[in-house]
Amino acid sequence: MPLIEVSGLSRHYTMGAETVRALDDVTLSIEEGEFVAVMGPSGSGKSTFMNVIGCLDRPTAGRYHLAGEEVSRLDASELAGVRNRRIGFVFQQFNLLQRASALANVELPLIYGGVAPADRHRRASEALDRVGLGDRGHHLPLELSGGQQQRVAIARALVNTPSVLLADEPTGALDTLTSLEIMAVFAALNRQGVTVLIVTHEEEIARFVRRVIRFRDGRLVDDIRQEAADIDTELADWRGRAQGRNAPEGAPAS
Ligand SMILES: Nc1ncnc2c1ncn2[C@@H]1O[C@H](COP(=O)(O)OP(=O)(O)OP(=O)(O)O)[C@@H](O)[C@H]1O
Ligand SMILES: [Mg+2]
Repeated sequence: MPLIEVSGLSRHYTMGAETVRALDDVTLSIEEGEFVAVMGPSGSGKSTFMNVIGCLDRPTAGRYHLAGEEVSRLDASELAGVRNRRIGFVFQQFNLLQRASALANVELPLIYGGVAPADRHRRASEALDRVGLGDRGHHLPLELSGGQQQRVAIARALVNTPSVLLADEPTGALDTLTSLEIMAVFAALNRQGVTVLIVTHEEEIARFVRRVIRFRDGRLVDDIRQEAADIDTELADWRGRAQGRNAPEGAPAS
């Protein structure tokens, strides 16, 4: 049974006399454990697709089964329940609460889930450990770099042990090295079995996933499987080159 199975999925917006086909008759399935990039030009329907898959929005037509459960017919509160249990969302702008510590941000979904404080604290700390931020739990977002803030957002998305992690341009606000570091986090989580879908504009980022789907005008126009480039090797190379550039003149570029 696929984790995600959509058929004839559409999301149309009516704007006066005009209909915008943000998502148009999309059929595909994604198995548990996949690592997928979602690509396509601006306005092609990527975010619309992620929002429907993530149960933030409902399709206007078609069917959507998430882990075997038909979710396209659920009402808003049922949908919210599925979202809390099954979906972890990561956004370009991190969307952290600025006045709350990293740990408190990660605990938030557990508060909504009614988890007791001690348990909440332990699970949030574990999630921060998984993204390499175990020692930053008491920092406020403003005291963290962009890459670290995105890690906190990933930990928050993970803390409920969702079925799927959805990231809409998670590296869109980050420089190249930090983008690679964030991709390394997603790749590591995927190796641990987490299903990951990432929207990106950058071919450079899409090289690290095993499947690339492309939208155009709301339609799925391409779906290819590929051998993923090894993010850890490339990250090490990149760091090495950056160090070489920063070395004082005359020093070996090692
Ligand atoms: N709430 C809305 N009302 C009307 N039209 C919308 C709405 N949301 C999205 N659209 C339209 O649906 C289409 C797809 O938008 P979407 O945000 O999914 O594109 P995208 O591929 O994520 O683009 P980008 O790369 O710029 O983020 C666009 O034409 C957009 O204008
Ligand atoms: Mg978008």
